[in-house]
Amino acid sequence: MRTVELFCGAGGMSLGFRRAGYDLVQAYDAWEPAVATYRRNVGSHVWRHDLKDVFTIGPMVASLRPDIIIGGPPCQDYSAAGKKVEGDNASMTRAFAMYVSIARPRWFVMENVRQAKKSRAWADANDMLKAAGYGMTETVLDASWFGVPQSRKRWIVVGRLGERDGFLASALAGARSERRTVVGDVIDLPQGHFYMRPFGDGRGVRSVEEPAPAIIRTSRERPWPKYLNNPHPDDPVRVEEAAVLTQDQVARIQGFPEGWDWGSATAKDIDQLIANALPSQLAEAIARVVLAREAGDTIPNVEGGFAQWLRRRGRSAQSCRNTKSQCNRARRLLAGRTFTSHALEIEALEATWDFQQLEVRTQSNLRAALRLHAEFLSMKAERQGARLTAIALRKAA
Ligand SMILES: C[S@@+](CC[C@H](N)C(=O)[O-])C[C@H]1O[C@@H](n2cnc3c(N)ncnc32)[C@H](O)[C@@H]1O
Repeated sequence: MRTVELFCGAGGMSLGFRRAGYDLVQAYDAWEPAVATYRRNVGSHVWRHDLKDVFTIGPMVASLRPDIIIGGPPCQDYSAAGKKVEGDNASMTRAFAMYVSIARPRWFVMENVRQAKKSRAWADANDMLKAAGYGMTETVLDASWFGVPQSRKRWIVVGRLGERDGFLASALAGARSERRTVVGDVIDLPQGHFYMRPFGDGRGVRSVEEPAPAIIRTSRERPWPKYLNNPHPDDPVRVEEAAVLTQDQVARIQGFPEGWDWGSATAKDIDQLIANALPSQLAEAIARVVLAREAGDTIPNVEGGFAQWLRRRGRSAQSCRNTKSQCNRARRLLAGRTFTSHALEIEALEATWDFQQLEVRTQSNLRAALRLHAEFLSMKAERQGARLTAIALRKAA
């Protein structure tokens, strides 16, 4: 997969995609310490550019003919720690959508904080991406379920040309590990506990048996006198007994491997580069889910409620099971692809060699199963539309 990364920072996201086997052909960031760190650790394919300059960079990105564009536009305007006013940084979410719409890769992956989902900038970006023909899966993933010892919830949007919205949701959910990764899995802390500056009036002392809170620029600060004088009642040990993390340990918790070369960046800039990153293990998990679908190795789960809907229409339990398994079979023949219309789906199915080899009766069963499934989806969409209209009317009243 030829990959272009926008807003690449120090390279956390790139590292994960490279580990999954992607070919990183170009990366962009405007901030010199990010570009220098990326160049030193990931490769010389990084360019320092202000991505506001869509007129210059848009044609460049398009000429690279990427299969996928990835990136985490800056989140300061949205993040809980930021000032929450939509300005230039939020506009970079629009810029991301513009680059994707200009280059039209088969796939894109965008990462941001959860708050970005409700922004004006994303509403505009979403409109552009839809108009460019992308189906999208939007989901919030907690990094601690993907090999990262940190409760870091990130909003992930994966788009693919021509798909139906939600096409990758079940595959992303299924990529979760069986248990959360905890700090003790990754770093050795003899004290067994560590201090991390809490958000608001939260707990400051954590055990190595739990994931760390989301890393921010000030995560390795020593406890302030205010906290020492008034510690949180639920701290498992006295704050004086807890370790204060080193910069290297914070980098490990954020998914950077040992020996990541920060060059001559200042300590403050390194803290910022670390805090900005998408942990590489989470990036790698997403990258593998995309690759598996691209290869046709996974199919989307049949949407919940389908069997019950069939039952309500008078079908026997056995007939519901058969219809569901026929849908799955059709989806395997379609290599996991979904389509924005039933007609396109049937057309694509009939064009596959494997479908053409099936008996006529089996072919009509598969067609019928997909037709029922399409009816079910349009009923769901109608209900959702009616719910949204009712909410809008209530708000307006
Ligand atoms: C959230 S960080 C991305 C982190 C990266 N995905 C990683 O995993 O390390 C956002 C990046 O966008 C960059 N940035 C902000 N405004 C920019 C602009 N106008 N043009 C290019 N890069 C910009 C910042 O320098 C920062 O490195």
